[in-house]
Amino acid sequence: MEKIFSTTVHNLEETEHLAQIFAELVKNKGAFVCLYGDIGAGKTAFSRLCAKHLHVKEKVTSPSFVIINEYHSGDLPVYHFDLYRLEKEGVKTITDELTEYSKEGMLTLVEWAEFSDMELPFDRIEIKINYIDDTVRTFDFYALGDYNKKIVEDLKQQCC
Ligand SMILES: Nc1ncnc2c1ncn2[C@@H]1O[C@H](COP(=O)(O)OP(=O)(O)O)[C@@H](O)[C@H]1O
Ligand SMILES: [Mg+2]
Repeated sequence: MEKIFSTTVHNLEETEHLAQIFAELVKNKGAFVCLYGDIGAGKTAFSRLCAKHLHVKEKVTSPSFVIINEYHSGDLPVYHFDLYRLEKEGVKTITDELTEYSKEGMLTLVEWAEFSDMELPFDRIEIKINYIDDTVRTFDFYALGDYNKKIVEDLKQQCC
């Protein structure tokens, strides 16, 4: 997968700014997004802030114990997965389910996508979040497919 750019945010407000621009870019056609990073990196925070700027009205919480939360009150349907429990439960066959959520017109955010069984068979955006200190994070953006590359290129232009 091609790395398009990296950016450093210094606090949660800057993460929100990044999420707001990202939300604007995906709000018409959606995207499938995998989020990587250690516990506490900010995968859920970024997802929550994206949903906020897509005008999702419900409180967005971590789907750790339910695997998926869905929100239908915003500009487009938002599906938020957390696959962390799959590893513990030995479930490795979620690729077909995820493929259902890779269609146009929805935003799907997947935390711990590395716990699904294999390389995902569709175009997507990958975001790697690295914890630097209490409030500082680096975000690395990767994209597969022309549409996703354009989104991430536009994000690069607009955010930094
Ligand atoms: N710049 C930042 N970006 C994202 N989260 C931040 C930032 N600074 C501090 N935080 C805090 O770090 C924590 C990240 O937790 P969370 O999003 O649940 O992580 P993850 O889902 O990756 O385990 C939150 O408490 C959030 O408020
Ligand atoms: Mg999380």
